[in-house]
Amino acid sequence: MYIIAHRGSSSAAPENTIAAFDLAVQQGADYIELDVQLTMDQQVVVIHDETVDRTTDGSGPVKGYTLHQLKKLDAGSWFDSRYTHERIPTLQEILERYSQRIGILIEIKHPKRQIGIEKEVVDIMKRFSYSRHIMVQSFDDTALQRIKTYSPSLRTAYIIKPSVIKLAKRKLAAYSTFADCLNMKKTMINRYWINRIHSFRMDVFIWTIKDQQTANRLKKYPIDGVVTDHPPYFHKEKRSK
Ligand code: G3P
Ligand code: CA
Repeated sequence: MYIIAHRGSSSAAPENTIAAFDLAVQQGADYIELDVQLTMDQQVVVIHDETVDRTTDGSGPVKGYTLHQLKKLDAGSWFDSRYTHERIPTLQEILERYSQRIGILIEIKHPKRQIGIEKEVVDIMKRFSYSRHIMVQSFDDTALQRIKTYSPSLRTAYIIKPSVIKLAKRKLAAYSTFADCLNMKKTMINRYWINRIHSFRMDVFIWTIKDQQTANRLKKYPIDGVVTDHPPYFHKEKRSK
């Protein structure tokens, strides 16, 4: 089962920063998960929200900034004053730093409002070689279909929220045309559904585990990966795949 550090090791360091990703590497996670969006000048940057308000000392939409302007923002002090030097990373910087060190799960955020982001992401990814796994995920099926068009061998995960109809056989057959994995909300976990998804040759990831009790409960299920803010919760169970 892969341990996937959600926005980095985000319980212990500011999310989607080098500090959080470095910590995930140190803690032995298998993947870092991160969120990408476009700046005003079409650069791919790593940040979760559509505005910079919650996780930086700036305000306003990410798309209202050029990369040069975004790089001036402090992306760490909101979490702890120790992290005042953290900056919003670009996807390019992340791949330079981690493509040989840890798996990378890239989430395309709000693709309907980020025209062209799928192509930008694939073009950046093609500049690197990877010694670990790399995947792209989204809540948006159209974005993943575009990813598969641009790069058919790139592994993808479709993120889904609870709905039994989403796991009907007809739906799963459709998902399997553009997704290699379903990333299910933790409230959906159920051995029957896991087996059904596996029968369509898709892996099962579960998001997002934030407490030890839920982590312990998950360990009995035959899942392929777990997205967590706390990678150490899973260390004893870690096995390579
Ligand atoms: O891996 C799924 C998870 O990252 C989706 O939720 O809001 O944390 O991006 P969010
Ligand atoms: Ca995410």
